[in-house]
Amino acid sequence: MWNKLKSEANAAENIRISDLFSETARANKFSVSALGMLFDYSKTTLRESSLSCLTDMLATCGFQSRREAMFSGVHINETEDRAVLHTALRANAADKITEDGENVVPAVHKTLSRMQAFSNSLRNGSFQGQGGAITDVVNIGIGGSDLGPAMACIALKPYHDGPRTHFVSNVDGAHIHEVLQDLDPETTLILVASKTFTTIETMTNAQTARDWMARDVRDPGAQFAALSSNLEKTAEWGIPAERVFGFEDWVGGRYSLWGPIGLTIMIAIGADRFAEFLTGAREMDDHFRTAPLLENMPVMLALTGIWHNQGLGYGTRAVLPYDQRLQRLPAYLQQLEMESNGKSVCMGGSDTPVHTGPVVWGEPGTNGQHAFYQLIHQGTRVIPCEFLLAAKGHEEDLAHQHELLVANCLAQSEALMLGRSLDVARSRMAAKGFEGAELERQARHRVFPGNRPSTTLLYPQLTPSMLGKIIALYEHRVFVEGVLLGINSYDQWGVELGKELAVALQPIVSGAEDSTGKDASTIGLVDYIKVNRN
Ligand code: F6P
Repeated sequence: MWNKLKSEANAAENIRISDLFSETARANKFSVSALGMLFDYSKTTLRESSLSCLTDMLATCGFQSRREAMFSGVHINETEDRAVLHTALRANAADKITEDGENVVPAVHKTLSRMQAFSNSLRNGSFQGQGGAITDVVNIGIGGSDLGPAMACIALKPYHDGPRTHFVSNVDGAHIHEVLQDLDPETTLILVASKTFTTIETMTNAQTARDWMARDVRDPGAQFAALSSNLEKTAEWGIPAERVFGFEDWVGGRYSLWGPIGLTIMIAIGADRFAEFLTGAREMDDHFRTAPLLENMPVMLALTGIWHNQGLGYGTRAVLPYDQRLQRLPAYLQQLEMESNGKSVCMGGSDTPVHTGPVVWGEPGTNGQHAFYQLIHQGTRVIPCEFLLAAKGHEEDLAHQHELLVANCLAQSEALMLGRSLDVARSRMAAKGFEGAELERQARHRVFPGNRPSTTLLYPQLTPSMLGKIIALYEHRVFVEGVLLGINSYDQWGVELGKELAVALQPIVSGAEDSTGKDASTIGLVDYIKVNRN
């Protein structure tokens, strides 16, 4: 299967993307419109033959039955023997989704109602801290218990009408210090967000927050709530059951912002807007489940990714939102894609025959243009770019700025595809008065090779519902790529070793234990720190 893709990719190597547009219908044919969004992948070297190779690969992998297996609660997370049912967190109350014979939807909606009641009480001031109504909510979590709600709270700022929200994730004391120093403990609520309730960074920060609160608040525990699936640990920590919002082990951390981990979003924008967010995601689920392959947006986003990474060997993927409020989307997608598909063993235990997930990175446009686009345009590596852009911003009085933003985004994909030839560069330099060898030398620096692939995702405006659609789109893309790669996208064993070693190193760093048995480099690094911290 991969050999066939490789030969398709080899055949595409001499194609100029711009030449493909001699087919007048290309832009239409190589794009997907769904749910008010437009995904254009025509500025790539994908052709009918490569697409049919890729869709054949989906059939070979049993994609359709894997997709049904995911939606219907089969334990597709085989290394942890768990279902993968984040889609159930956004199901309609009347839906029936069974896991181990039990319909999980009623419990999801019961938790949603509890979240709604709690967030309403914070928003209307009926929940009181020692100093009165809650003005600030701090979410303490890391990874999936931070990136999703943090990203979404920034993305949905225009809808924010609840208490202020803050996020603390890093175990570096600087993070919690910076956040807490501006807050009044008497009117602050702390949400301890941790699926396992054992993550060292989160539990350390939670303890710091409790100590901070205890200095001024008589009953600090009363201003704490927990978002977790480990009810035993939350009880041990002294958080009463009525302020614990639980979820099941079939929700992976990086897929968890649709339920209790999204409580900060609900507090910020209100339960009705949060419901719109879930509805947007659910619409994407229905689309993914039912649309034919070539009209299926998550499938086509995934096939474009596979074409670039496993076909053409482009090992990174730049996510470039021309939407300032999606500034944390690249970081969110880094976890979603790299923790899910950064694997090297297939489901059955054999090594993967091809590279797995790409390095995902990015920054909002137009900022990135003035930083790393130089390399994207003229560097030696080809970096597929994924642009995202809203037709309309929220700042209606600044529509002229949005026009500039749009023009910049479209200009980048055009420039990447078309480039600028040596002949054009020469005539531009000649027009500036250069001649001879100097003209030649200067012109070469001004050549853009072009033929660099990009895709563009357009949507009307970044509303709660649209954000739900966008995130669900990427979640399903990860699923499709994972199925093609034959890996388990839903475990994350690769994060464990470092955690274990950190626990073992902590007493060595503190001086309680000596460093016998450690490698010479680590011993040298510890020694330097010990000497220089005093
Ligand atoms: O270390 C990785 C990880 O397990 C992520 O998958 C997860 O999102 C994050 O840590 C936080 O975990 P928890 O929510 O259990 O604190």
